Amino acid sequence: MTQDELKTLVGRAALDYVTPGSIVGVGTGSTVDKFIDALGEALRADPKRVAGAVSSSVRSTQRLEALGIPVLPAEQVEGLGVYIDGADEIDHRGYMIKGGGAALTREKIVAELAERFVCIADESKLVQVLGKFPLPVEVIPMAAAQVIRAFAKLGGAGRVREGVTTDNGNVIVDVSGLSIADPAAFEADVNQWPGVVTVGVFARNRAAVCLLGTPAGVRTMTF
Ligand code: A5P
Repeated sequence: MTQDELKTLVGRAALDYVTPGSIVGVGTGSTVDKFIDALGEALRADPKRVAGAVSSSVRSTQRLEALGIPVLPAEQVEGLGVYIDGADEIDHRGYMIKGGGAALTREKIVAELAERFVCIADESKLVQVLGKFPLPVEVIPMAAAQVIRAFAKLGGAGRVREGVTTDNGNVIVDVSGLSIADPAAFEADVNQWPGVVTVGVFARNRAAVCLLGTPAGVRTMTF
């Protein structure tokens, strides 16, 4: 199976976690695109399959609206049953690195609204320790250089992602060379640094379930 086929598999499997007629939280990325495609197919069979969505990015909003799914602003929603999103890395405790698509801040906001984060990923995303994937951090532009210096003290090499401005008007610093043994403590610490908007470690908002695409089928991990 190709990576694309594994993403299609888990995108479809995620539908089982969406209560019929509910409002669903929708993340961002190529795996989530497969989930949105599956949602489109389900809606053709049952136009009431979902009542609407809360989206974490302009990209996902456009895809949802193209299917006729109402997209509600997060500030008008008090809670969601489930948030479906991909990850750049996930460990065996449900901790994740996210932000490869630069949408991490909105992803955390929508994830925080949801009772359960259902992560969809192909098996290449499962790791023992977070950090091999360069950690995305959304930073207010004037703080980028000092944030990069602070990561250097932790052994990380940071660089501003070229040509990228987030949906919130900030830059992304990608940090390589980290090994994040305690994701919850790391997230809490880095989130305090002046100028850091969001660090791409998802510990507070870790996955409750991971649907992992493998050649043998969907492996369901619960945390
Ligand atoms: C978007 O900012 C990211 O957090 C994505 O969820 C992550 O990069 C996974 O994307 P893919 O599904 O494209 O691998």
